[in-house]
Amino acid sequence: MSDRVESTGTAFTPSANSDNDDSVLEQLGTDLRIGKTEDAAETAAALPRTEPSLTLDVVRADPEVQAYIRQANKNLGVLGFTEHGFRHVNLVANIARNVLRLLDYDARQQELAAIAGYLHDIGNVISRHGHASTGALLAHSILNRLGMAPEDVAIVLGAIGSHGDDGARLGEPVHPVSAALILADKSDVHRSRVRNTDPSTFDQHDRVNYAATSSFLRVAPEAKTITLELTIDTSIAPVMQYFEIFLPRMLMSRHAAELLGCEFHITINEVVVL
Ligand SMILES: [Fe+2]
Ligand SMILES: [Fe+2]
Repeated sequence: MSDRVESTGTAFTPSANSDNDDSVLEQLGTDLRIGKTEDAAETAAALPRTEPSLTLDVVRADPEVQAYIRQANKNLGVLGFTEHGFRHVNLVANIARNVLRLLDYDARQQELAAIAGYLHDIGNVISRHGHASTGALLAHSILNRLGMAPEDVAIVLGAIGSHGDDGARLGEPVHPVSAALILADKSDVHRSRVRNTDPSTFDQHDRVNYAATSSFLRVAPEAKTITLELTIDTSIAPVMQYFEIFLPRMLMSRHAAELLGCEFHITINEVVVL
């Protein structure tokens, strides 16, 4: 939770030259120097920025972004994956934003979560393998071109790069924005994601997704809990199958919730299972 300080911390404004540790320390040293006068001028520019440098609306309207999301989804369809298109990324953007809004993060971090959510799967346009890392690199050039501030780009890149579980290694949340993205992405389990229209040929992922008739990520700020509420048609897939397939997702979600200072729970058909 140390990053919560970022929205309320003492004045520290990176200058154009402060992109390395030395200059950062230098500035901190200057701010903290003994003898700093009480009445030192405070300007708006010296306060931590809480507004986003780019909005999701601008990202969403970009033709390159649109083309990559569309083609990435087509590619995954050829490989037999569930839907990863505009439905999925819009939903993930909304949920990621809401997670941080409900936990009282500032407007900047909410917007960064929404943008990371919208862009998180574009790496699939290159390959499913390593799509989190390749997606971050694609986002890097897109967000720079759209004029996002480097410190905001940096956070989005970390979030996208840490959302996957490629190579049998779980992605780990590295920032509240990254945690919100993981929680939003992993909670999208739903019948509408299944492209295969023939249940007799469903693989396990199809079956579990198809069995999920509703999924809702409930954030309870007071109780400090984040709960994935699932309704599963157990005549299609037994609850056990959900756990078999989604264990890595559940672990990632738990780590993400912990980074946000919350406990993670799952209910299936209104029964608490985690
Ligand atoms: Fe992904
Ligand atoms: Fe995703």
